[in-house]
Amino acid sequence: MHSVGYRANALLTFAVTILALMCGMASLSDNFNSPSPSAHVQVLNINWFQKQPNANDEVSMTLNISADLQSLFTWNTKQVFVFLAAEYETPKHSLNQISLWDGIIPSKEHAKFWIHTSNKYRFIDQGSNLRGKEYNLTIHWHVMPKTGKMFADKIVMPGFRLPEEYR
Ligand SMILES: *[C@@H]1O[C@H](CO)[C@@H](O)[C@H](O)[C@H]1NC(C)=O
Ligand SMILES: *[C@@H]1O[C@H](CO)[C@@H](O)[C@H](O)[C@H]1NC(C)=O
Repeated sequence: MHSVGYRANALLTFAVTILALMCGMASLSDNFNSPSPSAHVQVLNINWFQKQPNANDEVSMTLNISADLQSLFTWNTKQVFVFLAAEYETPKHSLNQISLWDGIIPSKEHAKFWIHTSNKYRFIDQGSNLRGKEYNLTIHWHVMPKTGKMFADKIVMPGFRLPEEYR
């Protein structure tokens, strides 16, 4: 004979187990979704390019950022954080990463977009390394699920180059 307390406890354990199983399945089913996001960025204009009094280079640019991140969204996706970074090499560091723009995509309907904007965050090099510098523009994203692990990925667009002279 089991006591009522024992049965209630067994029922609770069962419910928690089912819940854990469902969460597990939810994040597992996400792994079967193989997303195929795309992104394209154009530098429409170099607005200005200067050496600051402290000798750091700074550039201002106008960008057209377009992306289709709809395939990242499943029923288990809460939101997607996306940022655009300029990435380049200097004698001191093999990877310098400067965030130029970011955004939060709240739903699949908003995940296909283009935006015409100047860099939201300042593009400053800690030195004077930017003249004629080759750089990549990389779209990074972090998918925040309702349950399960966050995951991140990126698309690298290589082959950009800054002007040889300040302007
Ligand atoms: C930005 O890029 C998108 C997609 O490539 C294009 O449709 C749009 O016309 C572009 N906008 C500007 C201002 O260049
Ligand atoms: C830029 O992209 C190219 C090609 O993907 C890669 O080989 C290179 O390491 C990248 N540069 C930086 C600084 O990440």
